[in-house]
Amino acid sequence: MPKTLTLIATSAMGLESVVAKEVKQLGYEDVIVENGRVRYEAEVSAIPRSNLWLRTADRVKVLVGEFEAKTFDSLFEQTKALPWEQYIPEDGAIPVIGKSVKSTLYSVPDCQAIVKKAIVERMKNKHGLATRLEESGPMHRVEIAIHKDHAMLTLDTSGVGLHKRGYRLNQGEAPLKETMAAALVQLTNWKPDYPFLDPFCGSGTIPIEAAMIGQNIAPGFNREFASEAWDIIPYKLWEDALNEAEDLANYDQPLNISGSDLDHKLVDMAKANATEAGLGELIQWKQMNVRDLTFKQPNGYIVGNPPYGERLGDKDQVEQMYRDFGAIMKEHPSWSVYIITSNESFEKLYGKEASKRRKLFNGFIKTDYYQYFGKFE
Ligand SMILES: C[S@@+](CC[C@H](N)C(=O)[O-])C[C@H]1O[C@@H](n2cnc3c(N)ncnc32)[C@H](O)[C@@H]1O
Repeated sequence: MPKTLTLIATSAMGLESVVAKEVKQLGYEDVIVENGRVRYEAEVSAIPRSNLWLRTADRVKVLVGEFEAKTFDSLFEQTKALPWEQYIPEDGAIPVIGKSVKSTLYSVPDCQAIVKKAIVERMKNKHGLATRLEESGPMHRVEIAIHKDHAMLTLDTSGVGLHKRGYRLNQGEAPLKETMAAALVQLTNWKPDYPFLDPFCGSGTIPIEAAMIGQNIAPGFNREFASEAWDIIPYKLWEDALNEAEDLANYDQPLNISGSDLDHKLVDMAKANATEAGLGELIQWKQMNVRDLTFKQPNGYIVGNPPYGERLGDKDQVEQMYRDFGAIMKEHPSWSVYIITSNESFEKLYGKEASKRRKLFNGFIKTDYYQYFGKFE
């Protein structure tokens, strides 16, 4: 196992700089931002720490090698030349997934099969095995990703995507990914002492992520990762990372976080999810129409993912709701408001130009994140 590794934290389009900031906050330097990913050099202990702490990344991968490849022969030989035996044990399971974009080698199943053959041949040579590999051991999922003839071979350390924190028992119709919800909170200037509200909370993802950010709780504390079973990461490094997470959590930080939704069934779901996350007492939940919002304190933050009105028949109703919401918030200028929606007329309907806008993809939906900075009292 090399002493320093190149790690790749993958991210949704538009969130790369948010992921990069998190990686830097973990203490890793020389962070390079690329399309849909962030690359950094770190010691092996960064694998447990990154998986436990990165709130906005989709996965953490180890870069095994990269090269130009325009023929299957060259893909095979260059894959075989990489030191796979330094990462994967003799009995490791090695599924290979792939993708190819704008490249000569466009047949993904063929690329996967060739990469698999090259790795198996390399492993058999290095381990002196004549028969096929058993693959009965821990999962080491390889990805071959080719973009404009540039091939990258990575090993996935996360297993299930990092958005799966382990607290979501149930979800509404259009739940936000936990990674995106965390990013929406991190893109605000909210500090844990300020009031925080999601008036379209659905299954509660945004308030739950805000509470974990507010108390500095590592998002991965409640789940497992594929690389926990890897020989090359001494288990002590996982224990150290978990102990560090426990030390850094600030359970005494008081929070003033609420979530509300029109649909009482979703409010119950949000409550159950928060309890599963261990945050049951920390967040106030309420069934409420956004039109009935009232504010007891100044200087709060609203972060919301309202309906976008994309479904036939919904549009007029949703647009009227945006107008009503804007009219209410006009009376509370000390509150900052952050809304993600694909509705391009949002500012017009809300009645105010945003202080800032940011393009984001919510899954495959092109959205804008409209940000209204409050005037503090
Ligand atoms: C896109 S979903 C939010 C999903 C949520 N972020 C999650 O992760 O589960 C929009 C939510 O807005 C709620 N909603 C629609 N109209 C509303 C209104 N007038 N007032 C309050 N909530 C409303 C819906 O019930 C729905 O749960």
